[in-house]
Amino acid sequence: MMQSILENRPALEAEIRKVAEVAGYLWQKGWAERNGGNITVNITAWADEGLRSLPALQEPQPIGGELPYLKGMYFYCKGTNKRMRDLSRQPMQNGSVIRILDDAAHYEIIADEAVKPTSELPSHLSVHNYLLSKGSAYTASLHTHPTELVAMSHHREFLAKDVLTQLLWSMIPETKAFCPKGLGVVPYLLPGSVELAEATIRSLSENYDVVLWEKHGVFAVGEDIMEAFDMVDTLVKSAQIYQCSRSMGFVPEGMSEAQLREMSAAFHLPK
Ligand code: 13P
Ligand code: ZN
Repeated sequence: MMQSILENRPALEAEIRKVAEVAGYLWQKGWAERNGGNITVNITAWADEGLRSLPALQEPQPIGGELPYLKGMYFYCKGTNKRMRDLSRQPMQNGSVIRILDDAAHYEIIADEAVKPTSELPSHLSVHNYLLSKGSAYTASLHTHPTELVAMSHHREFLAKDVLTQLLWSMIPETKAFCPKGLGVVPYLLPGSVELAEATIRSLSENYDVVLWEKHGVFAVGEDIMEAFDMVDTLVKSAQIYQCSRSMGFVPEGMSEAQLREMSAAFHLPK
């Protein structure tokens, strides 16, 4: 049996275990049909000399642009066409570790196997480049397909700036407390495209940690993958309360402006 880079690297293994745990939740929640969704984590902090000296498993591949802050960085990436439910059991067979080359325009796969990274790599890597340029401590990015939020993105009225943020915050106090920057909106763009990557950064730069990709899914960033997942989970809880109320035949009243302001003051929230 081939050796894994996780052997004798307990800190890196713990990080990949979190990715596997979240992948299992995504499947259980019904947000990860077939190969739906992807995860990347900047693991450069755990890249010791041994890992850095690993040879490439195949030819360098373009990352679709130049991302200067990623030079020499290492990422764990879900594999394209791989299933979250499989990744939850075998993260290193359904994802791989890549190294960004010194030209900041190509990557190579170094471990454990030559699993081709996700088709959403342009968005993930552009976002990591953006986060590093801001000196952010965030290391993880998550794209997933939460049913209720995707459904809400089919309603034009919900797509205007911060309409959904206000609605979702007002469904239950915790949503504003644990997703205090709200939900950005990215208009529909082709999955995997550089245009989608650019629009995602534009929206994140308006100070959101989670953005909704119209008629597709969400993209979230966090200090680690658990934090990114928790924010999406919290927003989905609100969406479910809204949906549940509507299916019981009434429009939910929502918390009042004054109650939301009181939350912001008590929890020292930015908005
Ligand atoms: P990948 O299997 O390439 O990660 O794609 C899944 C997806 O959700 C694309 O948006
Ligand atoms: Zn998707």
